[in-house]
Amino acid sequence: MIIAIDGPAASGKGTLARRIAAHWALPCLDTGLLYRAVARDVVAASFRPADPWAALAAARGLDLAGLSDPDLRTPAAGDLASIVARIPQVRAALLSYQRNFAAQPGGAVLDGRDIGTVVCPEADVKIYVTASAEVRADRRLRECLARGENVSFEHILADILRRDERDSSRDNAPMRPAHDADLLDTSDLDIEAAFDAAVGLIKRKI
Ligand code: C5P
Repeated sequence: MIIAIDGPAASGKGTLARRIAAHWALPCLDTGLLYRAVARDVVAASFRPADPWAALAAARGLDLAGLSDPDLRTPAAGDLASIVARIPQVRAALLSYQRNFAAQPGGAVLDGRDIGTVVCPEADVKIYVTASAEVRADRRLRECLARGENVSFEHILADILRRDERDSSRDNAPMRPAHDADLLDTSDLDIEAAFDAAVGLIKRKI
């Protein structure tokens, strides 16, 4: 069983993907971490994140053991990730790893922007998780404050809107729901209610 969870930044898709994976005892891949790690490695090597050659080299040399670095979770790392994610060669270099992950016996849960459209168009379940930009910014703000980061709501909202625009306007694998995805708007749902709704959608498909 392959479950594809896509959606914009801070929509709740990551938490939802982990909960779903735990519920069905499936491995889970947060594909955003791959792009975040590529961007981190490009910048660490003193190149611009938009440099296609440096970004491709970083994608090909990605150390998958280094994906648990907490610094990868910051909004700044997400912003840089969305710059390298525009580079088609980077997306192509990360594709086989994601497809191999999905092909594990028993299946897998993957979350990202293009899982249902490009990485796993044959997924058994596709859920596109959304929430209003204000709700998403509020969630991100709480996470940042809990980590002790000093940021404003306006700054985070601007960051989210910029990332939405960058991710949905790129030519290669833009962020959008697959034609056969179920939409799940979590604006008015807490994580428990969102999880219950996702379980309901999944049970209808399997
Ligand atoms: O999901 P997350 O916020 O960690 O993703 C960071 C960035 O990586 C996104 O804004 C997007 O540009 C890129 N990404 C992508 N395709 C994916 C996952 C993430 O382009 N499947």
